Amino acid sequence: MAFPQHFLDELMARSDIVDVVGSYVQLTRKGANLFGLCPFHSEKTGSFSVAPDKQIYYCFGCKKGGGVVNFIMEEENLSYPEAIRFLAKRAGMEVPEEEGDREASRRRQRLLDLNRDAARFYHHLLQQPEGQAVRDYLDRRQIRWPTAVKFGMGASLDSWDTLLTAMVQKGYSKAELLAAGLIVQNKNGGFYDKFRNRLMLPVIDTRGDVVAFGSRVLDKSEPKYMNSSETPVYSKRRVLYGLNLAKKTKRPNIILCEGNLDIVTLHQAGFDNAVASMGTALTVEQTRLLSRFTKELVLCYDNDNAGRIATERALQILNGSEFSVKVLQLPRRLQNGELVKQDADDFIKTQGADAFERLMNGSENGIEFRMAQAAAKYDLSGDEDRVAYCEEVSQLLAALPNAVEREIYTGRAAELARISPEAMKLEVQRVYKRNASKARRIELRKDLNPAAQLQPKERSLRYDNLRSARAEEGVLRLLMLDDSLFPADSPLQEQDFSSPLLGRVFSLLWAAHKEGRPLSPGLLAGALSPEEASHIAGICQQPESPQNAQRALADYIDLIKTEARKRAGGEIDPLLAATEKWKDKKGTGGKQHG
Ligand code: UTP
Ligand code: MN
Repeated sequence: MAFPQHFLDELMARSDIVDVVGSYVQLTRKGANLFGLCPFHSEKTGSFSVAPDKQIYYCFGCKKGGGVVNFIMEEENLSYPEAIRFLAKRAGMEVPEEEGDREASRRRQRLLDLNRDAARFYHHLLQQPEGQAVRDYLDRRQIRWPTAVKFGMGASLDSWDTLLTAMVQKGYSKAELLAAGLIVQNKNGGFYDKFRNRLMLPVIDTRGDVVAFGSRVLDKSEPKYMNSSETPVYSKRRVLYGLNLAKKTKRPNIILCEGNLDIVTLHQAGFDNAVASMGTALTVEQTRLLSRFTKELVLCYDNDNAGRIATERALQILNGSEFSVKVLQLPRRLQNGELVKQDADDFIKTQGADAFERLMNGSENGIEFRMAQAAAKYDLSGDEDRVAYCEEVSQLLAALPNAVEREIYTGRAAELARISPEAMKLEVQRVYKRNASKARRIELRKDLNPAAQLQPKERSLRYDNLRSARAEEGVLRLLMLDDSLFPADSPLQEQDFSSPLLGRVFSLLWAAHKEGRPLSPGLLAGALSPEEASHIAGICQQPESPQNAQRALADYIDLIKTEARKRAGGEIDPLLAATEKWKDKKGTGGKQHG
């Protein structure tokens, strides 16, 4: 599983961060660092920095950072081992395969082969006399044969072991069928097919591998949809149904829906850019995947309450991302005097493809959707409600970073609430100024209290002991800057660190230091999450003067040890404790109120 250390060291030596990043981002030197436009968020002035001496990158804007491996993971949307292989290829190095590695990848490949064979078998059954029930269902849903073929659809039969028998005959073991989630074990230890009497919808990833199955019953029984469980080759957070086809679209954007059959209908109607998250909320992993193929998304969730919530959540995830996002709101449909829910599939079938195209062209961006949501909460014929609406909508409008957009939508909101555009504008400006001054106050406080500045944004990374954590960060910075400052025996143990993350990073770096290997932050990618790596890169990109390094190091170590003793409790000398307290007051009191 793990790559051998000598290979990784060699790879890092051959993957200079300036060369690697430089082939994606145009960099200009400014002092010790190089700067460019951040590839991970849109910006006009470069806040993306690369430090050749520390071999890290860090964006002061979006706060993403790490070593060369993190960069490739983020930029190429790869996992850690994939990024290592990517860099090895670039450096012209062969990747040594371990026995265990080969075994795991062989097993994965077997599962993928099994899934493909199962999909072929289901597809074959769909064309047999036994497939009649499913073919009838396709007719009822107006799914034409070429569409069924394009999606690789199939039929599972009303039987307990059709697939099991066929796959065992092909040479797959029951254990493999179980691992692929295609069969289930009953209480008596017997096995039976998981999918029975269903329309089978293979889930195919962007490489073209069948990674899982979705399936639908043919009648009104439950559960309506049944999907593969998570397996070594399937993580539902990372896959979008239909993206294997949508990635080839000529359309400029990708449409996101809830349901598998919405996708089928959309593709059949000429919208070959539709994908589905299969009933789950959009995940960050899915947005990363999408960003490889488009920068423009159209959210087209069902027009019921669940769909609105899903839209709001997706907008939150996409907020501040590189995507431009539109929300396509399907109208409700009048049925027996009642307005009923409608999804993309229903809409296309009742109104046609042209109507959908018009809806898509006229679809609103995220702010319009949110404005309409706000408006729906109030009865805009009443004065009190109008005031409340204006207040709520001003918050939304004031948050728009673009002044032109702010102006346009302020006008719309005023119209809706029937107040003068000038009054609305004043209200938005008031909120805008209030927010700006609040932000300034927070910034200012950060300046006065550097500790607050260093508190990580991610909740899971928050420090318990800020004083100690600052010193711990200092130690890491110095270690990366010049490890010759450090003695041969470690002056600190991992457990001396108040922050588990910083302690872990120290241990990793120390192990390399002790073996006289270069301390490459590039290697931390294998041991840290992207958020953790970004945080560490941020720490390393803060200035640390090499002049008084020896002295600073001694001070840091002192402080960390004192704090560690306090945590351990009991052992601490009361007199020492009193002095520490006094030092605390003296050290930070003046700054905090300054
Ligand atoms: P919906 O219930 O909105 O159904 O589920 P739909 O897509 O309109 O289904 P049809 O038109 O009746 O066939 C949306 C999606 O949520 C997932 C499926 O991926 C489905 O396409 N889902 C739904 C499940 O995974 N399990 C369920 O029991 C229901
Ligand atoms: Mn539907």
